Amino acid sequence: MTGAESSGAAKGSIPDVPGGVSRETDVSRETWTTPDVDTPIGAEAARAVRLMQAAVQGQLPRPSRQRVFTIANQKGGVGKTTTAVNLAAALALQGLKVLVIDLDPQGNASTALGIEHRPGTPSSYEVLIGEIRVEDALQRSPHNERLYCIPATIDLAGAEIELVSMVAREGRLRTALAELKHYDFDYVFIDCPPSLGLLTINALVAAPEVLIPIQCEYYALEGVGQLLRNIEMVKSHLNPDLDVSTVVLTMHDGRTKLADQVAMDVREHFGDKVLRTVIPRSVKVSEAPGYGMTIINYDPGSRGAMSYLDASRELALRGGTRQDEGGQG
Ligand SMILES: Nc1ncnc2c1ncn2[C@@H]1O[C@H](COP(=O)(O)OP(=O)(O)O)[C@@H](O)[C@H]1O
Ligand SMILES: [Mg+2]
Repeated sequence: MTGAESSGAAKGSIPDVPGGVSRETDVSRETWTTPDVDTPIGAEAARAVRLMQAAVQGQLPRPSRQRVFTIANQKGGVGKTTTAVNLAAALALQGLKVLVIDLDPQGNASTALGIEHRPGTPSSYEVLIGEIRVEDALQRSPHNERLYCIPATIDLAGAEIELVSMVAREGRLRTALAELKHYDFDYVFIDCPPSLGLLTINALVAAPEVLIPIQCEYYALEGVGQLLRNIEMVKSHLNPDLDVSTVVLTMHDGRTKLADQVAMDVREHFGDKVLRTVIPRSVKVSEAPGYGMTIINYDPGSRGAMSYLDASRELALRGGTRQDEGGQG
């Protein structure tokens, strides 16, 4: 299994593996050393070295103000949670302070970050309904001192229905998260459940930036039209700052033509909102949560870890849409 993954990397089927860097890419790799690698083990070792370099010297610029992303796609299993936790871990590794808000009752993001989320744990549910403050629910990930999480417990499963009868039901999370401006988090990622219900709406109202993960599979764009219409609706009525700033292609299988076709279609549709880095399909990425880890901690030498590291650098270096607005936050 390791051999299969690594030989895929050696072939360079994904544009952003070492040695396969496209000239168009805006991800700076000047600080990386990319030794000649022609064996799978050599390639893996080179990747692990790059990750360690990122931790030591690849410090990323802090954004001019806190960037808050909602990670949304009402399709399940497209890589929302995986993208949220791995981007967060990669940014934290490179010196930034990051918070993941788990807004999916399944609590998968909490699990992957090694965060306690048994029933009764102070969680995003109580924060959402205004029962407790952000600081009462914050937990630090055991994997990185700059990586934090507000976990989700099963209590959140009832929130979708409870919210219906609440005052200002779409703006609860926004109100609750107003406190975040007093914290020095550089990045905040809100991991949404696979629906367009009130939890996702709350997340869209609470964040200026939306990141949409799209799986490189059949029907990838199915449902995205509906998502975009909902985003437009939230933007025109509830959150004028809302913007789809980033699209991430996930679970790309380099052996299939279909994956490339989907990637091309998505790029045609979303243009330069799509990160150049494509996340490969990799067994290691799917194994990591089983150990309460992100891929960055579970297997730093893997192609999956490298791709999320590259994606995080792109995200940080392109700076999103906030520059236009000027000023410090
Ligand atoms: N790049 C990848 N390669 C292989 N498996 C992946 C990858 N990204 C995600 N997965 C797996 O696919 C499943 C769905 O991913 P997840 O991030 O939970 O999706 P979502 O949050 O959109 O429902 C999970 O089991 C996850 O471990
Ligand atoms: Mg999820």
